[in-house]
Amino acid sequence: MKKYWRGWGKSRLRREKVSWREEAKKRVALEAVEHINDGFIVGLGSGSTTAYAIQEIGEKIQLEGLRIKGVPTSHQAMMLAVHCGVPLATLNEHPQLDLAIDGADQIDRELNLIKGRGGALTREKIVASAAKQLVIVADETKLAERLGTNQAIPIEVLPFALPTVIARMRELDGQPVLREGQGKVGPLVTDNGNFVVDVDFGPLDDAKELNVKLKLISGVIETGLFVGMADTVYLGKPEGIEKLVKD
Ligand code: 5RP
Repeated sequence: MKKYWRGWGKSRLRREKVSWREEAKKRVALEAVEHINDGFIVGLGSGSTTAYAIQEIGEKIQLEGLRIKGVPTSHQAMMLAVHCGVPLATLNEHPQLDLAIDGADQIDRELNLIKGRGGALTREKIVASAAKQLVIVADETKLAERLGTNQAIPIEVLPFALPTVIARMRELDGQPVLREGQGKVGPLVTDNGNFVVDVDFGPLDDAKELNVKLKLISGVIETGLFVGMADTVYLGKPEGIEKLVKD
């Protein structure tokens, strides 16, 4: 099937200049796919690193005849899965998933994450929480001593509630910026029809506590703080892969 959209996918990946980061992303994605067994229902994350995993799953299905199905976390993941021949499934059919593979924007050594640069944080968190195991794939530039260091937290917000949510973020000493769309004027609209506000809180003392405070604000759909959710993180480095495992 000919691909008719632009974005993270096979043709773009082939065109990209191969840097150590791109190689590292590919290697960690292949490592994550090793967690998949025949018959698994797998959450398919969003982003350029997970895209390599989706391609690999497609190849495994075609070459080894594995019966794997994927639950995508975004239109991007869904379209790539279809393109790569990965059969789709839904949470209706499978409220519990065997595994989810996803990327991250920032990771600390306790395996807490900031996600949502791709605007898919809500479905990513739902799929991650439905999975028995969450495997994160990223290159080592995503590792940070403290979450929030030079990294804003994406927050999905119901458009109707935007002004009050922005005010609440400021009361919590955050600096909110409404994310602009690309290829359209005005705010970015998520796959769920909402806005994303990127809020800079600086380096976080307690990601869990902040996440709870943010979730209590009416109009906040979801936050990009994934606290205590990841089981395994594969970090790609120029010289190899570092594996971090939950205690
Ligand atoms: C999308 C995400 C992505 O997983 C995250 O942005 C990482 O993407 P990439 O692998 O392209 O660096 O959270 O909402």
